Amino acid sequence: MSTSMELTAAAPAVPAVADNGVWLACIECDETFAPFAEIRYTCDHCDGLLEVRYADPPTFDDFEGQGVWRYAAALPFDEGVSLPEGDTPLHHVPRLEEEIGIKRLRVKHEGMNPTGAFKDRGMTVGVRVAQELGVGRLACASTGNTSAALAAYGARGGMETLVLLPAGKVASGKIAQAALHDARILEVDGNFDDCLDIVQELAMAGEVYLLNSLNPFRLEGQKTIGLEILEEFMTDHGTYPDRIILPVGNAGNTAALYKCFRELVQSGALDPADVPKLTGVQAEGAAPMVEAIEEGNETIRRWPDVETIATAIRIGNPVNAPKALPGIRATGGTAISVSDEEITDAHRALAGEGVGVEPASATSIAGLRKLRDHGVVGADEQVVCLTTGHLLKDPEAAFEAGNDPESVPDDAEAVLDHISE
Ligand code: F0G
Repeated sequence: MSTSMELTAAAPAVPAVADNGVWLACIECDETFAPFAEIRYTCDHCDGLLEVRYADPPTFDDFEGQGVWRYAAALPFDEGVSLPEGDTPLHHVPRLEEEIGIKRLRVKHEGMNPTGAFKDRGMTVGVRVAQELGVGRLACASTGNTSAALAAYGARGGMETLVLLPAGKVASGKIAQAALHDARILEVDGNFDDCLDIVQELAMAGEVYLLNSLNPFRLEGQKTIGLEILEEFMTDHGTYPDRIILPVGNAGNTAALYKCFRELVQSGALDPADVPKLTGVQAEGAAPMVEAIEEGNETIRRWPDVETIATAIRIGNPVNAPKALPGIRATGGTAISVSDEEITDAHRALAGEGVGVEPASATSIAGLRKLRDHGVVGADEQVVCLTTGHLLKDPEAAFEAGNDPESVPDDAEAVLDHISE
């Protein structure tokens, strides 16, 4: 494993290729590249994943303003194509907190972003970079939310958008968004991983600019989830959370949160002992990251067949695993899988506290319940669960998990009779 993925206070040496204190580096071989001179998604030499690096990692004193761009000091630009995004609520869920039996539980509801998912945080930065590079056509493979965000931010930036979706496996709210924001929608007879293979080929051929989380700039925006959690938790409770639990698909958020913590440790703003334990949750039918953590593997095995009610994370080949696995391990976290039934129970339980999410989001609560039951999470822990997408993204799943409408006559007395039955 490269030292660049460790949680240490080592200041990065600034290479000659840096532009305004920003550059790209390979996480495997440490090769550095100019950030905006040409389009690049992986290392020219070893094909490793790239990450954005900064001459001056941020401190909390550097942040001012609102939303994602409050954290400009941690981003490659000062502003971007914005709708605006970020500043999502950190909900108190007292009934769940008591039922699960932990000291403090908060829910960071990323479904409250402009297109209803955390993807907006990455897109505001990614589309800004696309402008810098001068590309015309943006593209992504998607289980739905990335396509909705790409379509909206592309529309905002006046760019053409192309999205590849696994046919029949994307929740209707997400396709509706991509359609109305004027994306060209290609439905592939395959799963998400197949779609990503295709769009990567299109990107390598120079046909499109790829805005999946393989694009290192997307993850920069998504770091701001961690920055918001740390700032707000400290303001409210005078401490940082012990653990952050999140759904895992491509493992982009896991990688982004880890990078957020590493940069704060590098700048001296965060003590390594205060870094929250990153804890990933996958659906049982799509759990290659959990398998790698449980078996202690350095790499993941691609699952060719995946299935789960949580279609957003119906992913068998998490491309950011090389960034995310070291994060889970270095922070002392873990990963766990949950069944569709456990996901649906958590979906209902969150809704019962007024927090409406899509099924993938409920995995964080389902995972917490299970880890608490297994004694992995202690009663004295302070935990933040991430909920990544809004209830209306997947109306079918909400109908399935919720109450059925009842037909009544057009008559008040009959309605009274009906409700007192
Ligand atoms: N939750 C939701 C609602 C998502 O849409 C996704 C990913 C994840 C969790 C997983 O996040 O990839 O950072 O581990 N959705 C992508 C998409 C794949 O195409 O919308 P991750």
